[in-house]
Amino acid sequence: MRDLSREEILLLLDTADSFRDVSRRDIKKVPTLRGKTVITLFYEPSTRTRVSFEIAAKRLSADTINISAGSSSAAKGETLKDTGKNLESMRPDVIVIRHSMPGAPHMLAGVLDSAIVNAGDGSHEHPTQALLDLFTMREKKETLDGLKVAIVGDIIHSRVARSNIFALKKFDTEVTCCAPPTMLPPRLEELGVKVSHRLEDAVAGKDVIMMLRIQKERGGASSIPSIREYSSLYCLQESHVKEAREKVIIMHPGPLNRGVEISSDVADGPYSVILNQVENGVAVRMAVLYLLSGGEG
Ligand code: CP
Repeated sequence: MRDLSREEILLLLDTADSFRDVSRRDIKKVPTLRGKTVITLFYEPSTRTRVSFEIAAKRLSADTINISAGSSSAAKGETLKDTGKNLESMRPDVIVIRHSMPGAPHMLAGVLDSAIVNAGDGSHEHPTQALLDLFTMREKKETLDGLKVAIVGDIIHSRVARSNIFALKKFDTEVTCCAPPTMLPPRLEELGVKVSHRLEDAVAGKDVIMMLRIQKERGGASSIPSIREYSSLYCLQESHVKEAREKVIIMHPGPLNRGVEISSDVADGPYSVILNQVENGVAVRMAVLYLLSGGEG
């Protein structure tokens, strides 16, 4: 997201808009990518991203192949570069990759001719998550410009936070990041965001509240004394939501840790758009696959 311009982001969102109705029809398929091949290559667990890329490709009539690292020759010691080159020999058009190493998709893009899509690289970026988040914000709030957004949680380890900050700052938005000091990267303000350590202050008057889980797989739990203490200070409750704007939307990229960063009352409540985000993820990924396969906006 750091490299995309505002115009490129809007092109992706508008293209996603044009694909969204496909998923709501009885026959959920268009021939747009017939004859194209999409490989999803996941070195980290995923439910939403992997499934929605596969559904997106299938709804566009592309052939899809899903590879999990644990059941691939990566488990026998093959390097990512070798895996990529071997897969490319079978002539895919797009390779979607999730990896724990920041920069892994960038490295592959440098050595392969296929289009490479970053489905999350370590704590670096998760660009299609940010695109579906912006799509959902625009859908619910009609415009991105002027929005006040709070992003709360394990910011330092969160690729979702980074990609959303890069994307939102292309628009006229006010972004406040909220976490204990140990969960905030140094010099965060240089990205143009405000910083808060109190959840009550961070959510007051906001249009959008985005909650993030603690990234235990990246050492997030070691940044805090205990989960219990963290949740006593940073778990979003209905009382917090009342302090936000009247029609605030509550977002979360998933998976949720109920009772840790978000209460069930809020996650399942009237302001939650969490499942809308998941639905919109399919349309956004259809747009990404379409535009990377040579489609025009
Ligand atoms: N939001 C997200 O990336 O979810 P998954 O890890 O389930 O793909």
